[in-house]
Amino acid sequence: MKKSFAVLISAITISSAVGGDKPTIAPLVDPPPVPPDNPMTPEKIELGKMLYFDPRLSGDGSVSCAKCHDPRQGFQKAREMSPAYPGTKHFRHSPTIINSAYNTALFWDGRAKTLEEQAKGPIASPFEMNMNYDLLIERLNAIPEYVEMFKKAFPGEEDPITIDNIAKAIAAFERTIISKNSPFDRYMLGDKDAMTPEQIKGMELFIGKAGCVNCHNGPNFTDNKLHVLGVPKNPVEDDPMVKATRSFVLKTLGFKNHREIDRDLGAYFQTKDPKDKGAFRTPTLRDVARTAPYMHNGVFKTLDEVIEFYNAGGGDVPNKDPLLKPLNLTEEEKKALKAFLEALTGEPIVIEEPELPGM
Ligand code: HEC
Ligand code: HEC
Repeated sequence: MKKSFAVLISAITISSAVGGDKPTIAPLVDPPPVPPDNPMTPEKIELGKMLYFDPRLSGDGSVSCAKCHDPRQGFQKAREMSPAYPGTKHFRHSPTIINSAYNTALFWDGRAKTLEEQAKGPIASPFEMNMNYDLLIERLNAIPEYVEMFKKAFPGEEDPITIDNIAKAIAAFERTIISKNSPFDRYMLGDKDAMTPEQIKGMELFIGKAGCVNCHNGPNFTDNKLHVLGVPKNPVEDDPMVKATRSFVLKTLGFKNHREIDRDLGAYFQTKDPKDKGAFRTPTLRDVARTAPYMHNGVFKTLDEVIEFYNAGGGDVPNKDPLLKPLNLTEEEKKALKAFLEALTGEPIVIEEPELPGM
């Protein structure tokens, strides 16, 4: 089966005028990288899973990671703006955590580098879990089953319930949430019947005429880089409660005009560099058919809408990425492209919600 692998890989390499690195797409064969200081063990993964589902990680005991990254909804939430801490509203769509383990830039604006670093963010965020780290550590120490589980997950540590170990356990669990065996992977690994002729045509468009591969490349279909597409504003960004959250974030980042910025400008909020206005990190397209709505603000409800957006050459902003141009796709080609995106859906990821330890 595997002998046609090299041939197929070279067949999907697009030609580049000046040589150098040509972007490609590839099957997902390697497990995600694991940092040397956080080896995966069954005990740690089990603990991380519990913590992921446990709403006691939030201030009022009502918000777990799973509330916004719901295993029943593609490990994201099928609504435009993410859920938020009770009484607040979020200003971004919650992305899937499927395959986040492969990302070297996390969040819509790429501001976190590792899952360990990422996991601490939502716990403390006033509009996500609104929890104080020290209070959380004391709360978990009051739950005997957790004390045992932390001891087993971090053997030899005297006082293993720390915020870093909480993040490490959750990250280890997240490294098991992987999209596997999609029709695309099976096709690339030699099963020629795994994709339909329409999907194969869509793949050719993806790496050819439609130019998607320029940003969505590698086995996880992302270059992990920032790009300005000119994604339209979602009217919900004007909701007073959404505005309040965005303005709060901007204030904490040192923006004097924080109340005047009327939409999410992505990486610009972090860098304050005008060229980053509206820049977002390329997301994975693995399992994308399961993770509507799309984009940082959930403005597109379907893959058809996304494809129409790219077909028009993206949005209308002065600093738009020069890689985006009108594509002139026929109706048939649009359908084929969508069919290919559907071929990136892996096997269902079945995670049973664990029974949480009592106090
Ligand atoms: C109240 C909703 C909410 C909760 C609770 C929440 N998240 Fe998120 N998560 C989001 C949103 C929204 C984003 C995108 C934020 C951004 O880009 O600024 C995000 C981004 C992420 C990402 C980045 C994915 C990627 O590939 O870039 C990961 C990983 C993640 N969350 C994991 C977690 C974990 C682990 C927890 C629990 C400790 C958690 N989240 C709790 C809403 C939430
Ligand atoms: C210039 C780089 C670039 C090119 C070319 C590109 N994309 Fe994207 N893509 C992105 C970025 C960046 C985002 C996230 C934008 C945002 O959230 O505002 C994105 C988002 C998406 C999403 C939404 C994913 C999600 O989970 O919300 C889909 C689907 C998608 N692209 C498909 C495509 C297809 C199909 C093509 C080719 C027609 C393509 N992209 C070409 C960079 C690119």
